[in-house]
Amino acid sequence: MTPRSPSSAPERTRATATAPTAPPKVPPVLSVRDVRVGDRAGHREVVHGVSFELTPGKAVGVVGESGSGKTLTCRAVLGILPRHFEITGGSVEIAGTDTATLTPSRWTELRGATISAVFQDPASYLNPSVRVGAQVAEVLRVKTGLKRRQARHRAVELLRAVRLRDPALVYGQYPHELSGGMLQRVLIATAVAAGPRVLIADEATTALDVTVQAEILDLLDELREESGLALVVVSHDLAVVAQVCDEVLVMRQGEVVEQGPVHQVLHHPRHPYTRLLVAEHEQYGLDRFLDPTEASS
Ligand SMILES: Nc1ncnc2c1ncn2[C@@H]1O[C@H](COP(=O)(O)OP(=O)(O)O)[C@@H](O)[C@H]1O
Ligand SMILES: [Mg+2]
Repeated sequence: MTPRSPSSAPERTRATATAPTAPPKVPPVLSVRDVRVGDRAGHREVVHGVSFELTPGKAVGVVGESGSGKTLTCRAVLGILPRHFEITGGSVEIAGTDTATLTPSRWTELRGATISAVFQDPASYLNPSVRVGAQVAEVLRVKTGLKRRQARHRAVELLRAVRLRDPALVYGQYPHELSGGMLQRVLIATAVAAGPRVLIADEATTALDVTVQAEILDLLDELREESGLALVVVSHDLAVVAQVCDEVLVMRQGEVVEQGPVHQVLHHPRHPYTRLLVAEHEQYGLDRFLDPTEASS
């Protein structure tokens, strides 16, 4: 790519650094480098080195069977590992900040404002006795400092943005009055309320039926296109990752066994475990999420 001139090595170095044809490098909003998670009690490592980078508007997928370390990886990135677990190696940088340097209060500021997450079972993240709109508004007041009236107004806008029909009505409803898909939309509204740059969706659509799952994935895709939100999409289901992600990591027993562009990994899996996953999913219609023109490439 770079023209080589054997006679002048220093010249070459300079030319590479300032090559006018080089695309401008967008700094990553999230850099995960060889992150390891250990179980303090068992003195064992459960996540054996995960690395990826995310630039604005990109989506990385993490797939693998239950217990492979996907959630612990997410929680390590979010600074919310369960008791007894700790990061034992590597680093996490969020918007240029090495999270190892964060105090607990800076971590609290960063979560929601810069990096946010939604998980499976949205109902358990909402207070059953508070109207859902008020819960979204509360996040806005705490995280963005909006006054009560503005927060209420903005919360309705957010409920509309996550494609809830009649957002003003939904605002006044209690969690038990909403379906699982609607609750997950409310959670996504809450998660993006403070305008984070990264959203982690950990099995966020797993409990939903297939149609609703596809709608929620479309919504995440829209958010990413419209606001440049970067996504980490975690699922045991390859089809979910295939629908939204640019890159995929395949995890097994705490290890990343394969990693690369999503179409490459799904059409030309190299690791036997990835091949197995792809074969299993072919029966469930993974093909419909893949671009058929790439199949032969
Ligand atoms: N809170 C916890 N307490 C004890 N063990 C846990 C806890 N969370 C995860 N683990 C263990 O760590 C490993 C990885 O779990 P996890 O990251 O939740 O996997 P995944 O999300 O891929 O299903 C598993 O062996 C799991 O049993
Ligand atoms: Mg999990």
